[in-house]
Amino acid sequence: MADDQQAPPGVPHSIFELSAFNPVARDNPHPLLKSLRDGCPVMRDEPNKTWLLSRYKDVRDTVNDRTFVRHPSNAEAGSITSRLVDETGDNRRTSILFLDDPDHARIRQPLAKAFYARINRMRPEIEAMIDEIIDAAPMSGEFDLMAEIAVPLPVLVIARILGVDEARLADFREWSEGVILSLNPLRTPEENERMMTGAAALDEYFSQLMIERRAAPKDDLVSDMVQLQARGEANVEDDEVRLNLQALLVGGNLTTTDLIGNGIWLLLTHPQQAEALRAHPDLAAQAVEEVLRYEAPVSLTSRILAEDRAVAGCPMKASQPVWMSLAAANRDPDAFEEPEAFDITRKRTGHVAFGGGPHICIGAPLARIEARHVYLKLLERYPNMRLPEQTLEWRALPFFRGLERLVVAV
Ligand code: HEM
Repeated sequence: MADDQQAPPGVPHSIFELSAFNPVARDNPHPLLKSLRDGCPVMRDEPNKTWLLSRYKDVRDTVNDRTFVRHPSNAEAGSITSRLVDETGDNRRTSILFLDDPDHARIRQPLAKAFYARINRMRPEIEAMIDEIIDAAPMSGEFDLMAEIAVPLPVLVIARILGVDEARLADFREWSEGVILSLNPLRTPEENERMMTGAAALDEYFSQLMIERRAAPKDDLVSDMVQLQARGEANVEDDEVRLNLQALLVGGNLTTTDLIGNGIWLLLTHPQQAEALRAHPDLAAQAVEEVLRYEAPVSLTSRILAEDRAVAGCPMKASQPVWMSLAAANRDPDAFEEPEAFDITRKRTGHVAFGGGPHICIGAPLARIEARHVYLKLLERYPNMRLPEQTLEWRALPFFRGLERLVVAV
């Protein structure tokens, strides 16, 4: 390995140093990410047996490149990526998140088609649900915006899209919150128990829901998928439908919560930007893109080399994982003018907060609809919303960036 792939003193040496495991990076990862991008843009993290890219062009080229693979079982033993798969059972069975072609395209295509058609049809209903949640929040005093709005909202929306019965919504929320604990490697034994119980209950619930919707379809995504199967328009097995509907649930929750929380925090700490959005609500779409660029809810994504080759000008070996800092790429001065400025009037951003290429986030259109409507509705309902004195606590979940609490005064 060439010397210049070893991070110089002062530059982070390990992928975990850049994550919320490190209290300094948890508070503010951006100075560390800058020193990585400037000092060691193609970094080798030997203990975790991975590469880490941080320049925009390298990240963009890599996510778009279809010669990489994604399933963690292709990764070198002992690498951070190989640790992502369950070592017991049939670990090739995963959602599209980790599948490779031809299975990835076979499942993603009909799922995306049905999901997008449904989001488009349900847009007024989604916006009405958002209004309902926000209208129920306090009209005066102080409250935690995460607990009242950002956390409950995405799970309610996805439950309605999927077709979860109203009467089971509370259970559904409890189970999905349990499953989300799988993203926390430091979970307590009690949390582990809650995670396992939630996962088992969700499996059981979705299996039953599919049987019911096959017998009597309703106006929801579960019905759409079982009907596509029945008409032979989706060559997808039952457990594949189930796994991927659950992936929509888990993939979209915390991420959208953080897009809401990070966005409101940024608007309140940049009052001129909030004023610009109040005065020009048509800036909402650009505001969402700028929040995604500036404080991406998902910090990293990864691919795996299928063969020996050069990546970002550096020789690499088959089965080596390549992780990419989406957060570092999104503030690369070679790609963005004044990258450290939060500016919702920025015209074209082209950020990589949703990754890219064949695995680009399938939920991006839904996240955008939700965030746009939430930002506008909150600014309209609370003309004097501000941040009272508080110590911000960022979540200690590696690879995600979001707030535990965000107390607002209205
Ligand atoms: C702000 C909100 C969100 C962010 C920042 C985000 C970010 C990401 C990223 C970075 C990836 C990996 C892309 C890659 O490696 O190229 C991804 C994939 C994925 N996301 Fe999202 N996501 C968000 C919202 C959602 C929502 C709302 C859903 C579902 C309702 C969702 C479901 C998924 C799924 C299923 C995948 C796997 C797609 C595939 O591999 O083909 N995400 N997301």
